[in-house]
Amino acid sequence: MAATEEIRGVGHSVKRVEDARFIRGRGQYFDDITLPGMLHLEFLRSPFAHARIKSIDASRAQELPGVVAVVTGELLAQHNLAWMPTLSGDTQAVLATDKVRFQGQEVAGVVAETAYIAKDAIELIDVDYEPLPAITSPQQALAKGAPVIRDEKEGQTDNHIYHWEAGDKEATDKAFAEADRVVELDTFYPRCHPAPLECCGCVADVNPATGKATIYMTSQAPHAHRTLFALVAGLPEQKIRIISPDLGGGFGNKVPIYPGYVVATAASLLIGRPVKWVEDRTGNLISTGFARDYHMHGELALKGEKITGLRVRLLSDNGAFFSDAQPTRCKAGLFHIVTGSYDIPAAHVETEGAYTNKAPGGVAYRCSFRVTEASYLIERLVQTAAYEIGADPAEFRRSNFIKPEQFPYSSATGFEYDSGDYGAAMDLALEKLGYEELRREQAEARKEGKLIGIGLASFTEVVGAGHGAEYQIAGLRMNDGAELRIHPTGKAVLKLSVKSQGQGHETTFAQIVAEELGLQPEDIEVQEGDTDNTPYGLGTYASRSTPVSGAATAMVSRRIRSKAKKIAAHLLEASEDDLEWEDGRFSVKGAPEKSTTIQDIAFAAYTNVPEGMEDGLEGVYYYDPPNMTYPFGTYAVVVEIDRGTGAWKVRRVVAVDDCGVRINPMIVEGQIMGGLTEGFGIAAMQLIDFDEDGNCIGANFMDYLLPTAWETPTFELGETVTPSPHHPIGAKGVGESATVGSPAAFVNAVVDALAHAGIRNLEMPVTSDKVWAALQEANLAE
Ligand code: CDP
Repeated sequence: MAATEEIRGVGHSVKRVEDARFIRGRGQYFDDITLPGMLHLEFLRSPFAHARIKSIDASRAQELPGVVAVVTGELLAQHNLAWMPTLSGDTQAVLATDKVRFQGQEVAGVVAETAYIAKDAIELIDVDYEPLPAITSPQQALAKGAPVIRDEKEGQTDNHIYHWEAGDKEATDKAFAEADRVVELDTFYPRCHPAPLECCGCVADVNPATGKATIYMTSQAPHAHRTLFALVAGLPEQKIRIISPDLGGGFGNKVPIYPGYVVATAASLLIGRPVKWVEDRTGNLISTGFARDYHMHGELALKGEKITGLRVRLLSDNGAFFSDAQPTRCKAGLFHIVTGSYDIPAAHVETEGAYTNKAPGGVAYRCSFRVTEASYLIERLVQTAAYEIGADPAEFRRSNFIKPEQFPYSSATGFEYDSGDYGAAMDLALEKLGYEELRREQAEARKEGKLIGIGLASFTEVVGAGHGAEYQIAGLRMNDGAELRIHPTGKAVLKLSVKSQGQGHETTFAQIVAEELGLQPEDIEVQEGDTDNTPYGLGTYASRSTPVSGAATAMVSRRIRSKAKKIAAHLLEASEDDLEWEDGRFSVKGAPEKSTTIQDIAFAAYTNVPEGMEDGLEGVYYYDPPNMTYPFGTYAVVVEIDRGTGAWKVRRVVAVDDCGVRINPMIVEGQIMGGLTEGFGIAAMQLIDFDEDGNCIGANFMDYLLPTAWETPTFELGETVTPSPHHPIGAKGVGESATVGSPAAFVNAVVDALAHAGIRNLEMPVTSDKVWAALQEANLAE
C-alpha cells in the first residue's frame, strides 16, 4: 500500500513527467491550435528607427483576395486602443500613429484567410515616412539638443525617463573620503535577448454570442495578463480567459504584453472570428523584450584589503517606450543587490533611464529584474580590486564575504539576506577546481609564453519577489495561489498560478505535495496556465515559482493535512493530540498498529466525516512571501588564450550552487546547466547591436549567436545546502542563478589571463578580435 513505499517527495530525482509528451512531439503549443474559421495576422514593420508617418495607404492591400481587414493605428485609436500601458507605467504604441520610434515597430496589421495572403498584402501597404535622426545610445539621447523621441507625451521635453537612487549617499561619500584607495571600473552590459526556441504568438477567439474572449497565448503570467487585458481593452475580467499552453521557453521574453496579442484580440472582437498571430524569429529579436543594455560605472573604497564603500552610476537604455518588467517602486529593478556577497558598510546607487530609438522591453532575461547586471558589476569590480592591491582574487573575496553568523544580514541598500555561507561554496569550488595547483600551472605556463586564466564569481541572487507591501507590478501584489483537491480515491489535482516554460513544474510541485501529504508524485496532477481553472497569481519569471508558488503549495498541503488529522482522529476514535504523522499515515502514539493512511482519510472526507465537519478535502492558499530568498554560489572558469588569434577556449567550468533545499536535484542540475550555457553565450557571442541609423544588427540566428552543443563547455557541478529560514520547505529559487552568476566568471577568466600585463577589462561579448586588441595592447600578441 502507498503509505509503506518510500514517498518520492522532496530530495528525489523524479524523472520529469512532462517529458513523456515533449520528447514524443506531443506537446500542445499555441501554434498547434487551429479553430474553425480562424484568420491570420501579420505585421508591417517600420524600416526606419525614427520617422514621422505622413500617410498610410492600405487600399491595394485591402483589395487582395483573401484579405479580411487591414488594421492601422488610426483604426485602433477609434477604439481607444492605439496606445497601451506598460509594466513600468509608461505608454507604448500598439500600432504607430504619429511616428515610428524603432526599426521593426509594428505599423499596420493585415488579417487574412491565410498567413501567406497576409504576408503578401503587407507588401501592398504604402507608407509615406519622413525620416528623423535616430538615437541609438543613452549618451546621445541625453545630450543637449537631441531630438525628442517621445514628443507625443505631454510635458516631455527631452529623452530622460527617470532618476532612481538606493542606499546612503552621505555615508558612502564619507567611506570614499576616508579610503586608502579607490578602484574603478567602467563597463557595459550589452543588449541581449532571451531568444526562446518558440517565439511569441497567440490565437484570440472572441465569441460573438457570449462576448467571452479566450486567448491562447505565450504567457509566463496568464493571470496578470488577464487583468492587464481587462484594463487595456476595457473587457470585463470574467469575460477574458487566458490559456497559456505548453511553452517552448520563455526566459522573461513572454512577460510583457506585445502589440500582436492586442491587435489579434481587437481584430477577433471586431471581425467575430478567431485570429492567430505567429511571430517570426526576426520579429522576436527586433521588437520584443530585450535584456540588459546597461552602462555601468562602479567604484570600490578600500581600507587595506577591506571594502568600505561602493558607489555605482548607471545609465539605462530603455528603448522607445519604458516597459521594463520591474517591481513598481524599483525603477532599476533589483539592481541595488549590487553589494553582492560582500559585507560593504556603505553603498549608493544612482540610475538614469533614457529613451532611444530601439525596441522596448527591458525584460528580466533569466534574471530577477536587473540582478544580472548588478552581479556582473560587483564580481568584475572585486576582481579588479584584487589585481590593484596585489591580492589573490579568491582570498580577497573571502576576506570581504558576509560571514555565516551575520545572517539575517541587512545590506547597505536595504535588502535583508535570509541565509548564506559564501565561504563554504567558494571552498568547495576551489577544491573541485584544484585552485592552488592551477595558479602554479598558470605561473609556469606564462614563463613558456602560454596564457591561462582563472575566473571566479561568487554571486548572490535575490529571487521570489516579493512581499506585497514593497513589491508590486502594475499595482498588483506579487503573491501566488495554489489550490489542491484530494479526490476520494486519494489522487490529487494541484492548480497553480505560475506557468512553466520548461522548468519541470508538473514534476517538482507534485513532489512538494507528496512530501507534505505522503501521496506519491504520480498520484498528483499539476495544472497551470488556464485562468478560468487556476487561482490568481503573478506568474513565473525571476525564479519566483519555487519561493512563492512552492511555498503556497506546501502551505495548502499543510492546511489539508490539518483537516485530515481531524478526520483521522474520528476514524481512529482517538484525540488529535494523541496522533503522530509519518510517511502518509496518522497513527496513535505508542500504538502504531492503530493507524490510517491519507488514502483512507481522503475516502472518509467524502463519506464519513466527524459530525459538524464540512465534506471534502481541498483548499486554496495565497502566499505573500515575508521576504525574498537569496541563493548563491561560486563559479570558477579556466580558459586558455591563443596569442596568435585572440581566440579563447574554455578548459573547465566548476559551478557550486546553493539554492537551499533541492526539491528535485536532477531538475536543479538541468536548470544550472541551461543557465551556464546561456551565461557562456552572453559572455562569448551574443549581441543585439545597432548601426548609426538604428538598424538592428542581430536580427537573426546567423548574426545573433546561440551556443550549440559544439561550443558549449562541459560543466562540473557541486552543491552546498543552506536552507531559507522563512520558506516553508527551506527552498530558494535556482532557475536563473547560473545566467546571473556565470558571465562574470567567464569574463574574469579571460581578463585573468592578461591581468599580469595590466589588462583590467574586456567588454562582452568577449570575441577574439577584442582579445586580440588586448593582446596587442599588452604586448602579448604572437
Ligand atoms: O520560477 P522558475 O520556475 O523559473 O524557477 P525556480 O523556482 O528556480 O524553479 C526552477 C525549477 O527547479 C522548478 O521545477 C523547481 O521546482 C526546481 N527547483 C528545485 O527542485 N529545488 C529548488 N530549491 C529550486 C527549484
